[in-house]
Amino acid sequence: MSKSPFISLCTEGTIRNAAESLMAGHLVAFPTETVYGLGADARNPDAVKRIYEVKGRPADHPLIVHISSINQLDKWAQDIPEYAISLARAFWPGPVTLILKRRDIAKDFITGGQETVGLRVPRDPIALALISEFEKISNSAIAAPSANRFGQVSPTSSSDVLEELGDFLTSADLILEGGTSSIGIESTIIDCSGIAPVILRSGYVTKEEIELELGVNNLVEFRETKIKFSGSFEKHYAPKCQVILGNEIIANGAFFALAEIETPIGMVRLASPATVEDFARSLYSTFRLADKEGFSTLNVCIPQGNGIAVALRERLVKAARGR
Ligand code: TXA
Ligand code: MG
Repeated sequence: MSKSPFISLCTEGTIRNAAESLMAGHLVAFPTETVYGLGADARNPDAVKRIYEVKGRPADHPLIVHISSINQLDKWAQDIPEYAISLARAFWPGPVTLILKRRDIAKDFITGGQETVGLRVPRDPIALALISEFEKISNSAIAAPSANRFGQVSPTSSSDVLEELGDFLTSADLILEGGTSSIGIESTIIDCSGIAPVILRSGYVTKEEIELELGVNNLVEFRETKIKFSGSFEKHYAPKCQVILGNEIIANGAFFALAEIETPIGMVRLASPATVEDFARSLYSTFRLADKEGFSTLNVCIPQGNGIAVALRERLVKAARGR
């Protein structure tokens, strides 16, 4: 087992140290409002290579480059369509990733050899402080996937990150403590490399909100595409236990539903989120809890309706297909 990384509470000094760690080629896991990310210097091939090793992720999967503001767009992307600028203005900082035509600075080791690069400005204050500080000293940005082992559930707290990656990080790497992720599911990914936007992964920002912003009503979602995005791998988002959707009653099975739904007799309730937003916030921690408590099944009542419920259904259906 390697030496544990250092979990650090965020003070001004910590942010500076963390930026310097990135500069030195180490990894820094940091909070974002969606899920925790595992960051490296986006221009350092050796540092980025370590992300893949620590995650156990195939090297041709592209990484999102996290930038501090819309002013950095031009540095990483070119031929940016008007609609993409509108989306960046409307949703950054926030839980949206835009896929754009790359500039040379975004090398193959970031884009998985594709001609596009994924860019995001998160709104979590610790993430923003870290990215800004790192940009100042490096003329680079932070490449970061979710801070989990490949195919596992995304982490929504620093202790989740430690549990996932502690054995693979070194004592020179850092995990920044920033509380529980306020949204709890990954960013909405919008492909902006064509004449019209395409949603590649649903998230907290919904199809309807994007359409409203762009003044269209026919946005395409999940079109068959050659672009690689990890959401397209069936086993993603799944805990180790079997996820069952609907109202099957399994004696001693774990149960997860909105508070308004009663616990079926004989089942063990793990969480009672009051709203769909709370449901999203507790989804991954409930998956983790079910595994930790040794349940072999987790019965989930899927939230109905539009909005973030769409992103939850997408993840739950994949989780139910399982491993
Ligand atoms: O909320 C999030 O997006 C979190 C936080 C840390 O920012 N990040 C995240 O990263 O979920 P990851 O690597 O676990 O998922 C990002 C997805 C991957 O499936 C990747 O394939 C896709 O974004 N992606 C990145 N660059 C891309 C590109 N150029 N074209 C298509 N998909 C891309
Ligand atoms: Mg991920």
